[in-house]
Amino acid sequence: MARSYDLFVPGRVCLFGEHSDWAGGHRRVNSAILPGQVIIAGTNQGAYARVKAHPDSLVVHSTLPDGTRPPPCVLPMQPEILRREAGTGGFYSYAAGVALFIREHYPVGGLEIDNYRTTLPVRKGLSSSACFCVLVARAFSKVYDLKMPVQAEMEAAYQGEILTPSRCGRMDQGCAFGQVPVLMTFDADSIRTRQLSVGRHVPLLIADLKGQKNTVRILGELNRAYPFAESALAQGVQRCLGEFNTAIVERARRAVEEGDVAAVGRLMTEAQAAFDAHVMPACPSELTAPKLHQVLADPKVRQLVYGGKGVGSQGDGCVQFVTRGEAERRRLRAYLARRYGLDSFDLDLRPAPLVRKALIPVAGFGTRMFPASKAVRKAFFPVVTPDGMAKPVILAVIEEAVAAGIQEVGIVVRPGDERVFDDFFTQPPLQEHDGRLSDAHRRYWHEVQRLAERITYIVQEEQAGLGHAVFCAREWVGNEPVLVMLGDHLYRSDTDVPCARQLMDIYESGGGRSVVGVCEADLADVSSYGIVAGRRSGERPGWIDVREFAEKPSREYAAANLATPGLGEGRFLCVYGQYVLAPAVFAHLARQVEGDAGEAGEIQLTTALESLRQAEGVLAYRVAGRHYDTGLPLPYVRTLQAFSRPRRRPPSAHAAKARPRRAARPRQDRPR
Ligand code: UTP
Repeated sequence: MARSYDLFVPGRVCLFGEHSDWAGGHRRVNSAILPGQVIIAGTNQGAYARVKAHPDSLVVHSTLPDGTRPPPCVLPMQPEILRREAGTGGFYSYAAGVALFIREHYPVGGLEIDNYRTTLPVRKGLSSSACFCVLVARAFSKVYDLKMPVQAEMEAAYQGEILTPSRCGRMDQGCAFGQVPVLMTFDADSIRTRQLSVGRHVPLLIADLKGQKNTVRILGELNRAYPFAESALAQGVQRCLGEFNTAIVERARRAVEEGDVAAVGRLMTEAQAAFDAHVMPACPSELTAPKLHQVLADPKVRQLVYGGKGVGSQGDGCVQFVTRGEAERRRLRAYLARRYGLDSFDLDLRPAPLVRKALIPVAGFGTRMFPASKAVRKAFFPVVTPDGMAKPVILAVIEEAVAAGIQEVGIVVRPGDERVFDDFFTQPPLQEHDGRLSDAHRRYWHEVQRLAERITYIVQEEQAGLGHAVFCAREWVGNEPVLVMLGDHLYRSDTDVPCARQLMDIYESGGGRSVVGVCEADLADVSSYGIVAGRRSGERPGWIDVREFAEKPSREYAAANLATPGLGEGRFLCVYGQYVLAPAVFAHLARQVEGDAGEAGEIQLTTALESLRQAEGVLAYRVAGRHYDTGLPLPYVRTLQAFSRPRRRPPSAHAAKARPRRAARPRQDRPR
């Protein structure tokens, strides 16, 4: 049976910078115009669908926001038929347009889409058509594993939509990023996108003004100010959508990222005032927008909000507000309904949940350290830290987690081992022994006992692999992200920021995508590791969008498929044992646990990561730091020496970045 995928694509709202997207396009002709900049956000509402392969046709079942189901479309995947359907402008023309574009550029067969639920209102400036086009592009990408990054989905959605009579902008497809704010820059024909982090929850309310607006006329009139401003009015329009817009979008970006909700609201009011002063006179018939201005000026409304402005092309379409809190949002919704008869809906910008928990699996057999691992659990092998303290590996791993800001630690152990670990952390040293300890040892021991308060033990009944060990902790982790650290690896940062913290920061500013720490490996070694193929994400320096995970690939496969641009010849990225995982990973592990287990009956974390990547994207990051293996005899010897040496501090943070790092040895997996 064909595998099916569940998808959700939201609509999008333009929070700041509307009209500057097409204005920036005029740079093709007049380079004095500034690039357009907008901040958009995915809506809480959108289209839900289950999708799977179809042998030869595009089959779409749709559901309208009111729950009605129009008759489905069934179109053979033949170019002339798809083109004809796209050209009709009918209900399924968007699906046909995108399917045609995909068919012409990728090796695909048919597709079945069951859009079983739609919560996004149509024709309200929320890009419902782009939402659907992105849904179709993503469906093809998932079902045929096309590994399309978000930008490629956006491109396919755009190219598909313009095959229909509908005219859309390049901003609309930003909904492909999901329910996160995105900064988009429009420079002639090029578009750059950057996902923003959210410092604090921004509760917005969007209300449908139920007025008239003619977007075609608005665009027609405003376009007269381009490409060259030949009147004072046109200069005002260009300045407002140019310099002023660039400045206000930058201030809004900072306010969103710093969590200054009041400033986000104030900036909306400021943006509206500038628009009214400089852009409205260019199309007064549409932009005077009496309903919009009546609601924005209402004293009762102003008590409940930090600010607000029109949505999309402006006019009397929709209005958006930054409310002062949840309670104020509820009161505003009720007031707008009662006083003006308006329908409204919530839009939330939410920070990615903070990473509070670390999971350390130590339940493996430690075959490669046999027979030492028979005498002593591998997690208790000693290492020496630069301060001269000899401690078990598990303690050094927990200390790295706590230094990174972790509050709770889960340790996955073999049945019966809870007691062994708990004794270590909670039982005082023998009395005779205690008398011989130095003050430094006693103080340190006191700290260790306090760590015990953070620890929970999770039992892995059978040793079915690292993925299975992580899966065993699903209830303890709950619906939160989790830092996973291998119990036989140590980490040391090259900077003042612990390696784990570096990954956690990326998770928290990456909109909740999972992050894997990676280092480099030679082609000769790839078949021993989990290998990551990626490309620079373009969102932030150092972020890598994972394009494929492969567990211990053959050299031939790696050479042909897993190269990451920017690495030296024959070099590859491999996972080394630190991950920040979104809670969605458990659904992917469950699929492996319930289905047939992977290679040698083991549940591989890398396999679940590949399926998580296909569903929601995963980031990779080369941390500024090193890792040390204690799970293999010779690397353990090297670790003992290297880990005890004090960290060589870089002369400055800048120098730390510039200094070429020696590639650390990646994790050696169990030989088969
Ligand atoms: P390894 O793959 O190194 O396995 O696990 P291992 O059992 O420790 O060592 P070998 O391969 O037999 O020599 C990486 C981490 O995952 C844990 C291990 O304890 C180690 O910390 N692990 C592995 C589990 O907790 N459960 C498992 O079933 C497998």
